[in-house]
Amino acid sequence: MTVNWSAESWKKHTALQMPDYEDADALARVTAKLASYPPLVFAGEARALKARLGDVARGEAFLLQGGDCAESFSEFSGDMIRDTFKVMLQMAVTLTFATRKPIVKVGRMAGQFAKPRSAPTETKDGVELPSYRGDIINELDFTPEARRPNPEKMLEAYLHAAATLNLLRAFASGGYADLERVTEWNLDFARDERYMQTAERVSQAVAFMRACGIDPNSHSELGTTEYYTSHEALLLPYEEALARTDSITGDPVACSAHMLWIGDRTRQPDGAHVEFCRGVLNPIGVKCGPSMTADDLKKLMSLLNPENEVGRLTLINRFGAGKVGDHLPTLIDTVKAEGANVVWCCDPMHGNTIKAESGFKTRPFDQILQETREFVDTCQDHGVYPGGVHLEMTGKDVTECTGGMRDVSDADLSSRYHTACDPRLNASQALEVAFLIAEEMER
Ligand code: PEP
Ligand code: CO
Repeated sequence: MTVNWSAESWKKHTALQMPDYEDADALARVTAKLASYPPLVFAGEARALKARLGDVARGEAFLLQGGDCAESFSEFSGDMIRDTFKVMLQMAVTLTFATRKPIVKVGRMAGQFAKPRSAPTETKDGVELPSYRGDIINELDFTPEARRPNPEKMLEAYLHAAATLNLLRAFASGGYADLERVTEWNLDFARDERYMQTAERVSQAVAFMRACGIDPNSHSELGTTEYYTSHEALLLPYEEALARTDSITGDPVACSAHMLWIGDRTRQPDGAHVEFCRGVLNPIGVKCGPSMTADDLKKLMSLLNPENEVGRLTLINRFGAGKVGDHLPTLIDTVKAEGANVVWCCDPMHGNTIKAESGFKTRPFDQILQETREFVDTCQDHGVYPGGVHLEMTGKDVTECTGGMRDVSDADLSSRYHTACDPRLNASQALEVAFLIAEEMER
């Protein structure tokens, strides 16, 4: 049990990026209600994911983390959830086939509703209003009513997360993820010949096993999959309300998702977000941008993983293409010097955001590929295992990042730009990243 920690001890620390709730009574009513609701995940699952991430840290598995930048209530539908899940299965097959390693699948789903912003307010035509901070806090419309942080939205977010998780669990264990359906996961609009070749070979392998007398249906590893959820632990009143106690170990556990991460803007060692995360037993990610110093990293590792538990801590690098060599080696040296156990993971999205000439926020796909390649190469050159990738992606055929095989141009961005926050990879771009990693890891 962590000393001097309680689910509300974060309140004694500076909490950046928190909304200003005007009505403290309304906030208290909502959090009391959430605290009485059932947990979304249970401690045993969080411990299981930590063990899987332990395999990643040891170089025996690969982490695939992906989903929306911000989940949105208005885009909420079974098709959305299914298509993201489906692309992640395709990516996992591609990666398993190449690396011969199990893929740990973690969605940015079922709770990824709160967003840090670069400015607390936004001004349009001389009118200044609070920034949009994600559907769990306020609304995107530019009106005073929509932008007012409303605690009731936490209840709505909880229900959206519960319904999402329900469908994900059904897909993972109800037959949808059966390897015998590997060729069916191709999405019509993103039919990928390379994927089909891999899928055919997997199908042949399964058919071969069947011919040898091994019934794939009697092996749950082939008919079902494990799928975990994660989000940024940003909105601390929500996280506190969903914190519970593991009945087996007696340890506190965050029950809003299996894994939580701390954003690049809220990872101050003495800040409230680190304080909350240090006390829960879940696997924890920390985003590491260019401003992360060796000293900060050392402090964060000793606060968040004092026992040096394997699988507890994932360092999610997001430096930007062309900058990995300037920053990652220092972090690797620091981790080595401390003898720390970490998962090295690359987020090639958040360091590569630009404003296109058309005015849209976008990310050039070749920069995303370049940062991913730099990450794998730098890890390999420094003798550490490149353990995972963290992507903002969707299974839909959106036009938000430029480039890729279907060559989305600046002029195309307006055609299907649906994101509630940052630009996401579409299904075929996401699959291309998986092929790139597969190639890099095979070298
Ligand atoms: C995010 O993952 O959506 C995000 C805001 O990332 P970062 O904290 O790395 O900027
Ligand atoms: Co984002």
